[in-house]
Amino acid sequence: MLELKELCVSIQDKEILKDISLTIPDGETHVLFGPNGSGKTSLLLAILGYPQFKITKGEIIFNGKRVDSMAVDERARMGMGVFFQRPPVIKGMKLNDVLKAVAKKNGSGMDINKSTEALNLSYLAERDINAGYSGGEIKRSELSQMFAQKPSFLMLDEPESGVDIENMKLIGKKIRMLLERDIEKEKRMRSSLIITHTGYILDYVDADMGYSLINGSIKCRKHAGRLFEHIQKFGFKECELCQDTA
Ligand SMILES: Nc1ncnc2c1ncn2[C@@H]1O[C@H](COP(=O)(O)OP(=O)(O)OP(=O)(O)O)[C@@H](O)[C@H]1O
Ligand SMILES: [Mg+2]
Repeated sequence: MLELKELCVSIQDKEILKDISLTIPDGETHVLFGPNGSGKTSLLLAILGYPQFKITKGEIIFNGKRVDSMAVDERARMGMGVFFQRPPVIKGMKLNDVLKAVAKKNGSGMDINKSTEALNLSYLAERDINAGYSGGEIKRSELSQMFAQKPSFLMLDEPESGVDIENMKLIGKKIRMLLERDIEKEKRMRSSLIITHTGYILDYVDADMGYSLINGSIKCRKHAGRLFEHIQKFGFKECELCQDTA
């Protein structure tokens, strides 16, 4: 579904991502680990096409098409969706209205009331999107937008940070459902790239491949669960030296 070929990305003439190559096949979920400031969010935003992230080398191929010169909205229409780490506040735009508009445009068939209730969001529906939302409310709101959009490729930037234990259960189960992890891989319609520091999401989503991104370069790649165990045991310093790419 997604292929990055030797992708290099700069912001304000500073190179922040170097020679990133990875392939996420249909139906797979891959995980990006890395210390603060290593370039994880920048990679997601560059894949989505944020104009401040300049691609200086390499290619982004999505569903067989080169997309690196396409606008953000074109990529979104092709099926990319992002669950932001820090989504913008949009004054005058209610969560309910955003969900209605997105669900209508994408024909996702989402029942807005049912869905906001299931994510414990009904009380926020009439408030401006992200205005004064708590950390956990932002995450549930982002997830409700994913259900409205139903993208074929989901990029989830720290879906669990700041979420309490009860809501983690709720969010984890919903993400598992959205990524269709309970059905055979061949029948799944969605793929995903998830960023996590805590790894809590891996209790709910049995991810496939994992990468460790250090200083803008991928230093290690292996099964997500094994890589997370390795990072917990030895820290990111060891990832720099790790040659285990099996
Ligand atoms: N708009 C910008 N202008 C200048 N520098 C930026 C901009 N956006 C990102 N950077 C820099 O790029 C680097 C990577 O940032 P990024 O947000 O991708 O890190 P991250 O791996 O997601 O970190 P975290 O785990 O803290 O979320 C940082 O040094 C950051 O300051
Ligand atoms: Mg980040």
